Amino acid sequence: MITFAGVTKRYPDGTVAVDHLDLEIPAGEITVLVGPSGCGKTTTLRMINRMVEATEGTVTVDGRNVRDVDPPTLRRGIGYVIQQAGLFPHRTILDNIATVPLLLGRDKKRARADARALMERVGLDAAFARRYPAQLSGGQQQRVGVARALAADPPILLMDEPFSAVDPIVRGGLQDEFLRLQSELEKTIVFVTHDIDEAVKLGHRIAVFQVGGKLAQYTSPDELLDAPASDFVRDFLGGERGIRRLRFAQELEAEAAAENAPGAVPAKADER
Ligand SMILES: Nc1ncnc2c1ncn2[C@@H]1O[C@H](COP(=O)(O)OP(=O)(O)OP(=O)(O)O)[C@@H](O)[C@H]1O
Ligand SMILES: [Mg+2]
Repeated sequence: MITFAGVTKRYPDGTVAVDHLDLEIPAGEITVLVGPSGCGKTTTLRMINRMVEATEGTVTVDGRNVRDVDPPTLRRGIGYVIQQAGLFPHRTILDNIATVPLLLGRDKKRARADARALMERVGLDAAFARRYPAQLSGGQQQRVGVARALAADPPILLMDEPFSAVDPIVRGGLQDEFLRLQSELEKTIVFVTHDIDEAVKLGHRIAVFQVGGKLAQYTSPDELLDAPASDFVRDFLGGERGIRRLRFAQELEAEAAAENAPGAVPAKADER
């Protein structure tokens, strides 16, 4: 479990990026941080692995104050995935994935064999192993980023808008595979996004931030949609809420109609 207790981050120029944050992030689940640009999502994420140091308050990982753990040790247990994947352009895909094990001095053959197994896990064709990042599509690069973060088998994964650089169709596929992978791995995942649909699809719990780094609501996706805690949250969910409901109702109707029609072939999920 990861906890924030009274955590504030004030950057040297006086910007308050995160303001008195209290948050409990349960182990083994996906917790999504969502909110408009500049509301402190990335700052919050980076205070977990000490890429950013809190100005006030306490961040703990598994009951230990992160200040008491030196950053390299802390980060060994925390994978980090960013937008655009952040791959090393001059290393092959296989060596990108094996980065951390190789840094830790693990046997090269073994590290590469593990990396191959991970490629399969994240849905990458083995033929990509010897390519370089520029020779892969955006979605494929994101998969490499996820595989690289998993290579050291960390119990915690921080993901900062990992799928936002790809088009909506590729993103949908990445999200589905990510959910499948997580059902096997049961990592503690903190996932940042701007996109409320992505938050609802992936999150067990959703933390909505507002500008100024204040937590506006922290709850399950259902509760968030049913009972937004403030006008800000309602506006942020926006018209989408109504549209989502409508879409859902239309799907139910279409299904009922298909079932009632004699000899009807049910629509495939991906053609809806
Ligand atoms: N190094 C820094 N120095 C000063 N201010 C900073 C620094 N890094 C971030 N900020 C400010 O802190 C606030 C929160 O930034 P942060 O990157 O956490 O937002 P975010 O929610 O991740 O935004 P986005 O959705 O655009 O990625 C912003 O106002 C930003 O300008
Ligand atoms: Mg950010």
